[in-house]
Amino acid sequence: MAGTLYESSLDIAAVAAALGKLARRFDVDAVAECDSTNSRLLTLAETGAASGSVLVSDRQTAGRGRRGHTWHSAPDDSLTFSVLWRFGPESSAPTALSLAVGVALADAMDNLRIDGVALKWPNDVLHAGRKLAGILVELQPGNTRSAVIGVGLNLRLPENLPADVAQTAIGLDSLGSRASREEVLAITLASLARTLDNYAAGGFAALRAAWLSRHAFQNQSVRITGDGVDSVGTCLGIDQDGALLVATASGLKKIIGGEVSLRAAAGALP
Ligand code: BTN
Repeated sequence: MAGTLYESSLDIAAVAAALGKLARRFDVDAVAECDSTNSRLLTLAETGAASGSVLVSDRQTAGRGRRGHTWHSAPDDSLTFSVLWRFGPESSAPTALSLAVGVALADAMDNLRIDGVALKWPNDVLHAGRKLAGILVELQPGNTRSAVIGVGLNLRLPENLPADVAQTAIGLDSLGSRASREEVLAITLASLARTLDNYAAGGFAALRAAWLSRHAFQNQSVRITGDGVDSVGTCLGIDQDGALLVATASGLKKIIGGEVSLRAAAGALP
């Protein structure tokens, strides 16, 4: 029964209505609580779930972020979901998928009339330097053409957030959005379908210019740490495969994924 502790408050019919014709590309399910929507979809992928399967959870008890971080989500404050996407044998392998998903999320924010959204390599969606959304892409073990795309989007910041988190995060509400969770989900899924079709047909090269046009750190001084790396240099953007390019005192460094962290070098913007 809707409204009980045990059922999601998400109105799936409203999501389908907002998706219109694109509703046939997705199979949306919603739960009040689970450990992690990525974990759940990875399990469903093993049992043959179809491409376009979506799981939304009002709350996660073991939500995962990049680099072993926990991802907190609370009902009404966040839109927390994962999408299973299967790429055909003829389409590009999903190696730079989290960057492609960043482009899709930024386009979705445009469609919600939110200006000024920027992307931070490899997978953060920012506004004025604050995190609006995070992306965690995981490939199905043994099937690298099936990906689970996890998205955590801040709708509003909870009152009781620790001050340091509150300063580095931002919610859609404070950017003037009055869209419902259902509308935000539908607009984001529609944008994902368009972007992932382009990615499947043309690889990341088809999306690179769009990513660069949103790049938060283009030509900025940055510091890259983690995975045995500690480099300071000027961020030159990304190559055709999505690798980060940093000009350092010891030459051009190409950073290919991995568990690294990027931030503005001390004294630099943003
Ligand atoms: C990050 O910024 O570190 C990535 C955060 C990704 C969080 C989402 S929430 C939905 C999905 N399920 C998870 O356990 N994680 C992703």
